[in-house]
Amino acid sequence: MKWLCVVSLLSGLAISPAFAQDTSSATQGIHAQQRDAFVSNLMKQMTLQEKIGQLRLISVGPDNPKEAIREGIRQGQIGAIFNTVTRPDIRVMQDQAMQLSRLKIPLFFAYDVLHGQRTVFPISLGLAASFDLEAIALSGRVSAQEASDDGLNMTFSPMVDITRDPRWGRVSEGYGEDTWLVSKIARVMVDAYQNGDPSKPGSVMASVKHFALYGATEGGRDYNSVDMSPLRMQQDYLPPYKAAIDAGSGGVMVSLNAINGIPATANPWLLKDLLRNQWGFSGITISDHGAIKELIKHGVAQDARDAVRLAITSGVDMSMSDEYYDKYLPGLIKEGLVSESDIDRACRDVLNTKYDMGLFKDPYTHLGPVGSDPQDTNAESRLHRAEARVVARKTMVLLKNEHQTLPLHKQGTIALVGPMADSQRDVMGSWSAAGVAKQSVTLLQGMKNAVGDKAKIIYAKGANITQDKSIIDYLNLYEPAVEFDPRPAQQMIDEAVNAAKQADVVVAVVGESQGMAHEASSRADITIPQSQRDLIAALKATGKPLVLVLMNGRPLALEWESQRADAMLETWFSGTEGGNAVADVLFGDYNPSGKLPMTFPRSVGQIPMYYNHLNTGRPFNKENPGKYTSRYFDSANGPLYPFGYGLSYSSFALSDFTLSSPTMARNGKITASVTLKNTGKYDGATVVQLYIQDETATVSRPVKELRNFKKVMLKAGQAQTVELPIVEDDLKFYNAKLQWGAEPGKFNVFVGLDSDNVQQQSFTLK
Ligand code: BGC
Repeated sequence: MKWLCVVSLLSGLAISPAFAQDTSSATQGIHAQQRDAFVSNLMKQMTLQEKIGQLRLISVGPDNPKEAIREGIRQGQIGAIFNTVTRPDIRVMQDQAMQLSRLKIPLFFAYDVLHGQRTVFPISLGLAASFDLEAIALSGRVSAQEASDDGLNMTFSPMVDITRDPRWGRVSEGYGEDTWLVSKIARVMVDAYQNGDPSKPGSVMASVKHFALYGATEGGRDYNSVDMSPLRMQQDYLPPYKAAIDAGSGGVMVSLNAINGIPATANPWLLKDLLRNQWGFSGITISDHGAIKELIKHGVAQDARDAVRLAITSGVDMSMSDEYYDKYLPGLIKEGLVSESDIDRACRDVLNTKYDMGLFKDPYTHLGPVGSDPQDTNAESRLHRAEARVVARKTMVLLKNEHQTLPLHKQGTIALVGPMADSQRDVMGSWSAAGVAKQSVTLLQGMKNAVGDKAKIIYAKGANITQDKSIIDYLNLYEPAVEFDPRPAQQMIDEAVNAAKQADVVVAVVGESQGMAHEASSRADITIPQSQRDLIAALKATGKPLVLVLMNGRPLALEWESQRADAMLETWFSGTEGGNAVADVLFGDYNPSGKLPMTFPRSVGQIPMYYNHLNTGRPFNKENPGKYTSRYFDSANGPLYPFGYGLSYSSFALSDFTLSSPTMARNGKITASVTLKNTGKYDGATVVQLYIQDETATVSRPVKELRNFKKVMLKAGQAQTVELPIVEDDLKFYNAKLQWGAEPGKFNVFVGLDSDNVQQQSFTLK
């Protein structure tokens, strides 16, 4: 098969620079003036009730049947809709607003398009593992194009919460633990979605989430509280949101958690002082689902009315799935507890957003004329399979490969087993937007496509995801997501062992079902469930080479598995083309090049575990462990697989690296140079990574922090010099007074192919 590269795929989907940056300030000024004049004029004609109506974001559901929503639209009581995702359905609603409401203010339509709309790309954590910003951009452009083609105007994405606790199921939605990398991806995604102008067909407005710090929920338990020092907030957790906003994200979704005792939804410091005043955000803030009434349970509002007062006065413009803005705002204004200027401000933000979406020029901008709707929303022709496959292959991380078990040969007999080897639902991952499971390719199908009649594949399920029925019931609460095989567990294992005995090699697809790495899917135990371990043990006992293909949405504790498997490939949930992409990697049609964007601990007891921790006064030293050092005595101290780790079928060697100068002047630049050689027999890519440490500063600084990387493709035997510049900005941090800057002194520079195995040099900042 002929393969398009990302660059050529991107050329058809070219990205323009950020909306906020592509036009000159003069043009932006004119746009803002015209928008202000238009919106001011419109608001003069609006009643208070109509202004409040604009603040309501509603979804069709049991509490909100379609007819009630249509009536609400006609009455001017609804500002926007989410979860309606087809052009005909969207058109009916927009028609109500444009034909039957008094002021004919168009609605906007939003949806959670996180890693694809119709074509599902790998989950965000997987995308981050590609360490390939062009591939990530391509996934964002395709998502935007398909979302826009479905009539949508906004995506609730990117999700840029820094995640350092794999117990939290939502780590699957984000880009991992590293602030610098996640900030880069945040920019890339906003640019990809908005493409210079969110009003254009093919673009959607971004709404970065979850503001703020949601990834730091205590114990990894969803919706739990966050308590964090100002220094850590500024240094580690806030920059990705800021990066998305600087790139022009039109929306911000407010998180569900409390921050230092104050829920984000009722937090004027967060939503006004920081977001508006310090960061200059001028777009729209949207509550998370039902978050306003949750202020009662948080214990900061007496009742629903009080919750509404708190949310609107704290700076929440739009309420998502919350009936109370409508119900209580008029009375609160009458009694002087909320001022009309609060409503005006929020309403203006909503109308400005609609203006920026181009809806006042053409309310059907992404819908097109009547009669242009696709005959079949799920038509094959609407998918971008080639793009999904190209991107998915880049996200896979080879964790182990003994005896060159991989790549597999397209010959002989292969046993393919495991509860997810043929699961179309699981391969798409959670938050798979409008993706259709029936259109996704499982590994069974992908392997069959790859080998044709050259090899025989024997498939057996081998195990259920878990035998724990209460977990299965939990996973199936809202959708029939997991099929439970009622046969006795031993019978399923026997069938798999029988397949293994007939085969030259065994491929077992194990891990978590997609619903186990989702919202409300926190785990206290991050190992592979026992039913699957029993299967692995039985397969191992056959003595056949054993390849574990991992499907999961979070780092798992894989020490037990790593001791048994000959090879392990982390494939995340790899999307519509997942099965083909995994097969490409297993058979060596693509040499794996992904790197871990989150540390894989040995056990849940080590959490939180992240590579860029502080040194402490008693750091653990591998060579000389000692007793009174920062360590666990009942476990090896480091992770099983560090951040930035990932093997290749080839081998790579790095020369000693050099720095262009032992000193750096203020505003200066020095360059690290290193020669990378592909010393193996396969062509392939790896990621050269550069980390920095400020050895002595006025606050304790991390042992190392990623500041640059380059993904380099080399033919077998080829070498290339890689240059990684370092500038003063790379050395900056927040000091104890929360001032941002670089301090003079010694900096260590580390270069390696993962965060652990590195060489070191140093320089001085004058
Ligand atoms: C999630 C958000 C999501 C929203 C709308 C909430 O439960 O926390 O991330 O955007 O639902 O689907």
